[in-house]
Amino acid sequence: MELTKRPRRLRRSEAVRSLVRETHLRVDDLICPLFVTEGEKTRAPIDDMPGQYRFSVDELVDECRELWDLGIPAINLFGYSTEKDDQATQSYDPQGLIQRAIRSLKAAVPELCVQTDVALDPYTHHGHDGLVVDGEVVNDETIEVLCKMALSHAEAGVDWVAPSDMMDGRVGGIRRALDAAGYKNVGILAYSAKYASCFYGPFRDALQSAPKKGDKKTYQMDPANGREALVEIALDIEEGADVVMVKPALAYLDVIAAARQAFDVPIAAYNVSGEYGMIVAAVERGWVQREQAVMEVLTGIKRAGADMILTYFAKEVAGYLRG
Ligand code: PBG
Repeated sequence: MELTKRPRRLRRSEAVRSLVRETHLRVDDLICPLFVTEGEKTRAPIDDMPGQYRFSVDELVDECRELWDLGIPAINLFGYSTEKDDQATQSYDPQGLIQRAIRSLKAAVPELCVQTDVALDPYTHHGHDGLVVDGEVVNDETIEVLCKMALSHAEAGVDWVAPSDMMDGRVGGIRRALDAAGYKNVGILAYSAKYASCFYGPFRDALQSAPKKGDKKTYQMDPANGREALVEIALDIEEGADVVMVKPALAYLDVIAAARQAFDVPIAAYNVSGEYGMIVAAVERGWVQREQAVMEVLTGIKRAGADMILTYFAKEVAGYLRG
C-alpha cells in the first residue's frame, strides 16, 4: 500500500513511544486521602476498602512520613467521629481529632501539604453535610458551622481546607472568615462540581457517615449535568477558590476536560472510593492486572485535564513510578 501517513511508525518501540508520549503521571500529581480515628497504635482495616485503614494520630504521622519520603506532596484528612450530634460540634472543637492530627503532622512532617475535608457529615447523627431543620438541609446556617470548622483547622496549622459540602456561598464565607482571622495563606481546594454519586458508598462505610434518611441530591449535583458544573466552578473561583475539583473522576472525564478548556486555575479530580473498589474487586477476580489498571485510569484522568488527583492508590503509584 502507498500510504504517506503511517501513525504506527510512532509506536514501533518503547523508546519511540516515550518520545511522543503526551501525558505523564508524576508522583507530584498525587494527593493521598487518609482516614483518622481516636486511639493509639491503631490501623483499623476498612471492610469496604481493602488496603485502606483508619489511622490513630501516631500511626498517621508514621504513614505520612513514609508518603513524604516517597515524594507524595499532599494528603487530605477525613475524621472518623464517634461523637456525633445535631450541630456537628465536634467538627470545630479545637481539641478535636482532626485538629490534633493537623498539629502532630505539621510538627513531624512540616513540608507536607496538609489538607482537610470541611463538611459536617461525619459529625452529625443524620449524616448530611449540613444542618437539618424541619427535614431540610439548610444552607446559610450550615456555612456558619463550616467557617468555624475551617478556622479551627487553620488555627491548628492546616495548609488547605477542602469544603466538600456543596452549600451555596461556602467558599466565599470560608475565605472571608479565614482572612478576617489573619489566615490569608490558608488555601481553599473547593469541591466545586461534586455529583450525587453512588461511587461514595465505600467511603461512607469508612466513616459510618451514610445519610440516615434521604439522599444528597438537594446539594450534590445531578450526574446528568455538565454545563451546570461550569457554573459551579465559575462561582467558586469568584468566591476565592485556589483550586477547583471535579468529583468523582471516571464518569465525569468530560467535565474535567470542559473545565480545563474554560478555566485557568488548577484543577483537581477525586478518584473516589467506589472507583478504587471497582479496580480492587476486578483484580481480586483476576479480570485486570492491578498496576496496569491503576496507571491507565490515573493517566486518563490527567489526560482529561486534571492537574492533581486525590486517589487511594497514591502510595502504590509512588512505588510504581519509582520502578
Ligand atoms: C463528605 C465526603 C464524601 C466524600 C468526600 N467527602 C462523601 C459524601 O459526599 O457522601 C467521598 C469520597 C470517596 O468516596 O472516596 N462530604
